[in-house]
Amino acid sequence: MKGIKGVVLAGGLGTRLSPLTRVTNKHLLPIYKKPMVYYPIEKLVRAGIKDIMIVTGGPFAGDFLKLLGNGREFGLKDLHYTYQEGEGGIAEALGLTEHFLDGDRVCVILGDNIFSGDITAGLTGFMEQKSGAKIFLKEVADPQRFGVAQLDGEKVVGIEEKPKQPKSKYAVTGVYMYDSDVYSIVKTLRPSARGELEITDVNNAYVGRGTLTYEMLDGWWTDAGTFESLLRASQRVVETPAMHEVVAPKR
Ligand code: DAU
Repeated sequence: MKGIKGVVLAGGLGTRLSPLTRVTNKHLLPIYKKPMVYYPIEKLVRAGIKDIMIVTGGPFAGDFLKLLGNGREFGLKDLHYTYQEGEGGIAEALGLTEHFLDGDRVCVILGDNIFSGDITAGLTGFMEQKSGAKIFLKEVADPQRFGVAQLDGEKVVGIEEKPKQPKSKYAVTGVYMYDSDVYSIVKTLRPSARGELEITDVNNAYVGRGTLTYEMLDGWWTDAGTFESLLRASQRVVETPAMHEVVAPKR
């Protein structure tokens, strides 16, 4: 699709999964028959995005190149990579992709977010938006583990990162679409209490501008950054045959 590129964020050290992550990167761990990072790449490819950058980090970053190469398995001509020093947060990792985006819009997927839905319609809707951002929400039983959106009718009026007392059950999933202004927003951010540049602060900046839209993500969704959610991701994928084979673009 023209005017938009894809970014998969696969940095961070995955310490919550130690010892599984002692000798490999979290996003290379298996989810049923494929490494975790395959799933977000496949979502972008299925939505028609052919220009994709992977942001990785840590001591095993070279293994992404060994595994994915130029993305031929996904029908891609090439794949782009960049390296995040340390774990400065999701928004910091996104900031590293500015030169790759070169003025285009961006569809970002967190490397540990696994879901069954198709984002093609959401992407088309976002491209019809004059500017701004789009996020995808999912009703969950444990919203305090996530960014949580406060809704007023059709509008998101604010997002809180891991609130103790969530104002709704709607988690902000790790699928985000932004116009090219996102990079100037990232540059205004200050580290949060956990020492990271927060994607929730980026989304709240768009709320402040009145240009953030949202959709509910179809199907099931889970992160895979804890032992429980890693297991759950594999179980859900096993039950979803459409996710078993590698997705390559329609020719
Ligand atoms: O899963 C959705 C949630 O992801 C959202 O609801 C939250 O608003 C958002 O902050 C995020 O929450 P987590 O705290 O669970 O994110 P985590 O630190 O596990 O990072 C998720 C992915 O982002 C990780 O698999 C790789 C990427 N990442 C993360 C950090 C901190 C990076 O690429 N670089 C980083 O520095």
